[in-house]
Amino acid sequence: MSPRLAWIGLGNMGRGMAANLAAKGPQTTPLIIYNRTAARAEAFVKATPNTTVSASLADTVTKADIIFTCVSDDAAITSLITSALTTDVKNKLFVDCSTIHPDTTTTVHQQLTAAGARFVASPVFGAPAMAAAGQVICVLAGEAADVAVVKPYTTGVIAKSFLDFSGSAPAKASQLKVLGNTFVIGMVESIAEGLVVAEKTGLGTDALMQFFENVFPGPYVAYANRMRTGDYYKREEPLFGIDLVRKDARHALDMARNAGATMRGVELADRYMEKVQEKQGEKGDLAGIYGAVRQEGGLEFEN
Ligand SMILES: NC(=O)c1ccc[n+]([C@@H]2O[C@H](COP(=O)([O-])OP(=O)(O)OC[C@H]3O[C@@H](n4cnc5c(N)ncnc54)[C@H](OP(=O)(O)O)[C@@H]3O)[C@@H](O)[C@H]2O)c1
Repeated sequence: MSPRLAWIGLGNMGRGMAANLAAKGPQTTPLIIYNRTAARAEAFVKATPNTTVSASLADTVTKADIIFTCVSDDAAITSLITSALTTDVKNKLFVDCSTIHPDTTTTVHQQLTAAGARFVASPVFGAPAMAAAGQVICVLAGEAADVAVVKPYTTGVIAKSFLDFSGSAPAKASQLKVLGNTFVIGMVESIAEGLVVAEKTGLGTDALMQFFENVFPGPYVAYANRMRTGDYYKREEPLFGIDLVRKDARHALDMARNAGATMRGVELADRYMEKVQEKQGEKGDLAGIYGAVRQEGGLEFEN
């Protein structure tokens, strides 16, 4: 019999991944859906075939063999796993897609294995649109046999590909994910600076767009478009919430510090992100760095 699957966490990323898992996964039973805010889970299940809602975390864990989680941060996954551990988790496989500190991953791994469960870390690269399109990139780490169980739910289902750290400690996936996000942060900061300088020198942002389209197609173009169209400050719900990105920056800086290294670029970007958070609170988005750089250049935050 195919294992029974559950998905926990229906945020910007979780919604898309869960929908793709329900639509394209090899499982033969409905995907069990649980979210802290129950209304979100009910609405999702109503709109998504091959899913069934679960009213409680305990019920979700009891009914499922493989439990995917995708929640905001270290505190969220810690409280979720602590609650999950009040039920019998023996032989159940937990797969966490959240971006968390490698040390938190290690703690969660130890807690679950001490209770007889198994654990694979599977943080993902990709924006919410990629999650919705089944195109994230998973970073898989854990016991080789457990990673092998997870792979059929990745490429062609929720993901376009995966990075394979079978046989490595789960924390390795979190290390790579956190380090990888510093490249996204650096890219966004340099696009923001470039657009402001292009505007202020009279070169023009159209010229810079041509450069991005021809030399750096892909994420550079997507983020530059979000900035030019005002999508960096107009959203009710951010695509990459500033509190989540600052969490990633903190983890990267901590990782570097513990290893005796520095990441000055991340420190600088975080100063801009602090301004975005002050200005926009929970609505702040990573792309809002553009607004902060604009202000420093004597322009309005909003373009
Ligand atoms: N957004 C991106 O571009 C992006 C890209 C790659 C990876 N990530 C990472 O993916 C993860 C999810 O990101 P997201 O953008 O989907 O976040 P999000 O939109 O803020 O959603 C967060 C989810 O976590 C749940 N949650 C928060 N605290 C919880 C708690 N204490 N207990 C149980 N559930 C809790 C929320 O439930 P409620 O509905 O009840 O609030 C919601 O389902 C994060 O670790 C993020 O860093 C994000």
